[in-house]
Amino acid sequence: MLGSVSLCQDKKGSEEHMIEEQSCCCSFCPENSEFACSICPAGGFNTTIALPNSADRSSTISFLKISIICLVLALLASVCSYKKKKLCFKRSDGPDNDEMELAETGNLILQGGNTESTMVNPNPDGSSSGQGEAELVVSTISREIRLGSLVGKGRYGIVYKGTWSGKDVAAKIFDSRDAESWKRETEIYSTTLINHANILHYIAQDNKDAGIALELWLITDYHERGSLFDYLKGNTVSIADALLLAHTACAGIEHLHKEINGTQGKPQIAHRDIKSKNILVKSDGECAVADFGLAVVFDSQKQLIDLPKGTSEKFLVGTKRYMPPELLSNNFRDEDFMSFRRADIYSLSLVLWEIASRTQLYEGHIPAAYKLPYEDDVSAEPTLQAMELIVCQQKMRPAFPSTDEIAASPGLKSWERLCKVIAECWTEEPTWRLSALKMKKGLSHEYNEVRPQPQ
Ligand SMILES: Nc1ncnc2c1ncn2[C@@H]1O[C@H](COP(=O)(O)OP(=O)(O)O)[C@@H](O)[C@H]1O
Ligand SMILES: [Mg+2]
Repeated sequence: MLGSVSLCQDKKGSEEHMIEEQSCCCSFCPENSEFACSICPAGGFNTTIALPNSADRSSTISFLKISIICLVLALLASVCSYKKKKLCFKRSDGPDNDEMELAETGNLILQGGNTESTMVNPNPDGSSSGQGEAELVVSTISREIRLGSLVGKGRYGIVYKGTWSGKDVAAKIFDSRDAESWKRETEIYSTTLINHANILHYIAQDNKDAGIALELWLITDYHERGSLFDYLKGNTVSIADALLLAHTACAGIEHLHKEINGTQGKPQIAHRDIKSKNILVKSDGECAVADFGLAVVFDSQKQLIDLPKGTSEKFLVGTKRYMPPELLSNNFRDEDFMSFRRADIYSLSLVLWEIASRTQLYEGHIPAAYKLPYEDDVSAEPTLQAMELIVCQQKMRPAFPSTDEIAASPGLKSWERLCKVIAECWTEEPTWRLSALKMKKGLSHEYNEVRPQPQ
C-alpha cells in the first residue's frame, strides 16, 4: 500500500515535490541528490526495510480481496432482506410506497406495545351491497388521511371531509371522553355486517395520539349533500325526489331492524336516535342512515338486548324532539325488543314529515320554509316535560300543507299516500305503527308510480 504524501525540498529549501513518503528517500530523493525529504532521516531510509517484500505484498493483496468479497456479500444479503420485507408490506397494504412506509411504522408501533390497529372494511369503495366482514389490518389510517374542511358537528363527533387513497372520505373524530359512543358505533359497523346501500358505508376506525388527548376516528364514505336536515333547509324537492328520499330512508331502517341468519347474517338493531341530522343524502338522491352511537343490538338466541355502556339513562336516550310518546310518558316496555323498533318508527315518521313539508306539489308551488318537527310549539332545546305536554297530553302532531285548493296534479296522490303512511307511524299506540318493511314496500311502490321514466 502506498504511504502518505510528504514533501521533498531541494537542499537549498526552494523547489518542492509532492512524493510518496515511503518511496521518498529510495526513489525520489536518493542519497547525495540535491533533494532531501522533510521527514526522511538524514542519509535516507534503508530501502530493504522501508518497502514491504513481495511475499508480504501478496498476502496483503489476498487479505484485501477477501475483505472486499466479504463486504460485497454482506451488502448483497442486506439488500435481499430489505427487498423481502418490502414485498411483505406490499402484499398486505397495496402498491403505494407511502402506504408501505406507513405499514412499517404501524408494525413497529405494534411491537412496541402501543397498538394502533385499524379495522379496515375490505370493500372500501362501497361498490358492493353484500355484507363484507371487516378484517384487522395493521395500519394507521388516521395518518394517511389528509383532513380538509369541517362538514358537521354532532353531539359526539366533529366530522371533516378528508382524502384517503385518492378518494373523498368523511372522518368523524371523537374526543376520548366519548369513547363509549365511538366504541358502540364502530362495533355496529365492524361486527354486525350492516353493509347496505342505504346505510352509511364504513371504511375504517382508528385511534390517534394527538399529544394531550387520544382522538378516536371513524372513517366512512363522504356525502357532499350532507345531512337530510341541511339538504331540506336549502332545497325543495319534487314529489318523485321526496318519495325516493322517503323510501330509501325506510329501506335503511328496515335493513337495520331485521335479523338475517347465516354466516353473512346480522342481528336486529334499533337506532334510537333517528332524526334528519343523522340521515345523509347521497349524490344519487337516496338516503344513507348514519350515527349509530346509541344503537342497541338484540341477540335473539339468548334473548338479550345489548345496550351501550356508559349512558346514565338506559332507555331515555336520543333527541327529545324526536322521542315517541311512550318514552316521554315513561311507558316504554324495555323488555321487548319490538318496543325499540317501534320507537324508531315514530322518529322516522317525523323525518318523513320533514321531507313531505318541503315537497313542491305542483308547478309554481313554493313550499313553506323548512321547519323542524314541532318547531312552532316548543323551544329550540325543549325539555322532556315540554315534549311530553305537547306529544302525550295535547296529542299534537306536525301539520301537513293543505291540498284542498290544489287541482289534481301528477303524483299528488302518491304524495298524499306518503302523508297517510306518516300518520300511521306516529300513532300514540306503538303496536299500531307500521313496520319499516311495510313502509319501505308501500313507499317504493309509490315512487315507481311517479319516478321519471327513462327516455
Ligand atoms: N359521511 C358524511 N358525509 C357528509 N357529512 C357528514 C357525514 N357524516 C356526518 N356528517 C355531518 O356531520 C354531522 C354530525 O355527524 P354525526 O355522525 O351525526 O355525529 P354525532 O354522533 O356527533 O351526532 C351530521 O349531521 C352531518 O351534517
Ligand atoms: Mg348525530
